[in-house]
Amino acid sequence: MAEAIVRLRVAGCVFAEDEAAALGAAAAGEAELARLVDRRALGEPLEQVVGYADFSGVRVRLRPGVFVPRVRSELLVRVAAEATRPGDVVVDLCCGSGALGLAVRHRRPAIDLHAADVDPTAVACARDNLGGNVYQGDLFDALPVALRGRIRVLLANVPYVATRHIPLLPAEARDHEPHTALDGGDDGLDVFRAVVAGAYGWLAPGGIVLSEITEAQAKTACAAVRSAGLDADLRSDEDLEASVIVGRKTVAPVR
Ligand SMILES: C[S@@+](CC[C@H](N)C(=O)[O-])C[C@H]1O[C@@H](n2cnc3c(N)ncnc32)[C@H](O)[C@@H]1O
Repeated sequence: MAEAIVRLRVAGCVFAEDEAAALGAAAAGEAELARLVDRRALGEPLEQVVGYADFSGVRVRLRPGVFVPRVRSELLVRVAAEATRPGDVVVDLCCGSGALGLAVRHRRPAIDLHAADVDPTAVACARDNLGGNVYQGDLFDALPVALRGRIRVLLANVPYVATRHIPLLPAEARDHEPHTALDGGDDGLDVFRAVVAGAYGWLAPGGIVLSEITEAQAKTACAAVRSAGLDADLRSDEDLEASVIVGRKTVAPVR
């Protein structure tokens, strides 16, 4: 173990002792520990190396090449759980590992959860975490048509980094997470715009679509939500340094 700590420290890992302990617990023996330490020393995210991330009260299984759930995304989980009642259809679109859906279902076990992603590795990982109802395909094309008009909460933690900012990301993300998981186009909102444009038809009356965005994107994102026929609201958490845009399909008053 001492050797692992030294290797990790030399590689620049700030929490070398903690990481060595996590790698030691994940490895079946000395030879495997050495292999895991090598991967970590080469910059692979710890979560991908040990095969899990602890996120918002749940342990999420991970695979190499799958987006590592971020602590700030707990705000999405909180807002989604607040809006959810037993039996509601909740969809985790752009689900990656399925972390968000898993965490919401942990808080609201009686939901009817579905998840989808375009990336087959992410879909396989989400199936590890969620079991059934995980589909592969481009945004709404992946979903069973029977969900149309029935979704109470549409979680969509889409890629939202502007293309020109990708080179500024930490190497762990840039080199070990697929660019399809990060790159949101010129202003970072390309995938978001596609989601909100399709959301109205898939949401139940009163249903909401939720996406994490940056503060700088808030004005443009609100405009996109409104032009898709949804009410727009912004939720923020300073501690998490997170902002979430909420688009709601309002129910027209009965006359
Ligand atoms: C920022 S990651 C979020 C993953 C997960 N929701 C989370 O928070 O941990 C974005 C995910 O969107 C997926 N994605 C990107 N474009 C997509 C598309 N057109 N249709 C479906 N999924 C897409 C990526 O494969 C990636 O898993």
